[in-house]
Amino acid sequence: MAEQRVKWVIGNWKMHGRLAENAALLQAVADGAAAMADAIRIGVCVPTPYLAQTQALLSGKSLAWGVQDISTYTHGAYTGEVAAEMACEFGATLAIVGHSERRAYHAESSELVASKARRALQAGLTPIVCIGETLEEREAGTTEAVVGAQLDAVLNLLSVEEAQRIVIAYEPVWAIGTGRSATAEQAQEVHAFLRARLVQKDASLACVALLYGGSVKPENAQVLFGQADIDGGLIGGASLKSEDFLAICEQAKVASHAH
Ligand code: PGA
Repeated sequence: MAEQRVKWVIGNWKMHGRLAENAALLQAVADGAAAMADAIRIGVCVPTPYLAQTQALLSGKSLAWGVQDISTYTHGAYTGEVAAEMACEFGATLAIVGHSERRAYHAESSELVASKARRALQAGLTPIVCIGETLEEREAGTTEAVVGAQLDAVLNLLSVEEAQRIVIAYEPVWAIGTGRSATAEQAQEVHAFLRARLVQKDASLACVALLYGGSVKPENAQVLFGQADIDGGLIGGASLKSEDFLAICEQAKVASHAH
């Protein structure tokens, strides 16, 4: 029998939010998440300036929080960068690394992303490593080559013990913020490929959580999360509305009972 993996739902607020609206959103999500926290893992990755606010509002609640990027360094002359240890001081436990927007707009290479993943682990954060192909790459039939190479860069740098503690988010670039999600079959196909790649490195990596991201909504979450190798979602736009985010969490809970 396959090992039971817990489902995750992580919000990626991107560069959205202001103090007043954050307070309302965090409160509503924390209230709704309380009833589901035994069944699934729920978290939000907020803009860094709001870490203190997030910590103040979520401490003691069953909702994790984190950041959307970290530096590869612990400290030093790196203007504008934020160290993983700084996020930890505000109770963060999660760090998204290698989001496609950072790869595209900040020229982050897979090697840099791998070193950010390792840095997060060393600081005690769980890295959520994002990988995914562009539309051109999918249409050229290179999806597996692209996501395989992105995953390999991380697996090559980490020890097996470190790799056991990462989370992967497969986010096809063409599905992010477009309203056009991958179909459950398309996503499952890539997730199965990624699972096999992890197991090729070490059998123990079968337990690594593989999240799907890209236009996840309350309407499509159930079928996506019902796939054998999809362990939940990384949610952008829909994480900014508490009802939508909680409805997606509810679907993850339903899917986790169904297995
Ligand atoms: P989206 O974003 O849900 O708005 O498509 C997902 C992401 O970029 O993590």
